[in-house]
Amino acid sequence: MDLYEAIMNRRSIRKYKDKEIDEDIINKIIEAGIWAPSAGNLQSWEVIAVKDHQTKDKLAVACYIREFIAEAPVVLVICAHKSKYERTYGERGHELYCIQDAACAAQNMLLMIHNLGLGACWNGSFDEDSVSDLLGIPEGVQPVAIITVGYPDEKPLPPPRLEIEEFIHNEKY
Ligand SMILES: Cc1cc2nc3c(=O)[nH]c(=O)nc-3n(C[C@H](O)[C@H](O)[C@H](O)COP(=O)(O)O)c2cc1C
Repeated sequence: MDLYEAIMNRRSIRKYKDKEIDEDIINKIIEAGIWAPSAGNLQSWEVIAVKDHQTKDKLAVACYIREFIAEAPVVLVICAHKSKYERTYGERGHELYCIQDAACAAQNMLLMIHNLGLGACWNGSFDEDSVSDLLGIPEGVQPVAIITVGYPDEKPLPPPRLEIEEFIHNEKY
């Protein structure tokens, strides 16, 4: 798939077919995350792949009862390994870079998911403590994004974007 086409046509998908995703496809998605840039190449993120129905049901509750989270065949919980940055880059490292690393990896994964004919939705709205307790995420590791993945069973229209003028400042703010 052409990169421009992938960027323009990727949509958040919240309805999935009842079809499993092969392990090699999941690995390809994670591989796309691995090749994202990261500060100092520290690669400070990790991912928990959840397929178990009971765990997904509980994740849906931790996401304030979003049912599509329980219905997705695979849920990828992207975590920032904050403590990896403790000795490097100081506060900026563990408060900012490690979240940016995780976000870069997540976006690469979203594009690869789309490229492979699957659909995904980034979920940022969840109770961090509940997710950490449920998945045994240790101190120093923060869940930052919950990405549901599946074969799309909807084709949403693109939500509008602001005009380019709203983003660009020439020379000064
Ligand atoms: C940081 C972040 C958090 C998000 N959190 C949620 C969420 O909690 N629930 C949800 O349904 N979508 C969530 N989304 C998806 C956005 O709603 C979606 O990307 C946006 O409406 C644009 O639509 P598009 O992805 O189809 O272009 C999130 C996206 C990002 C980047």
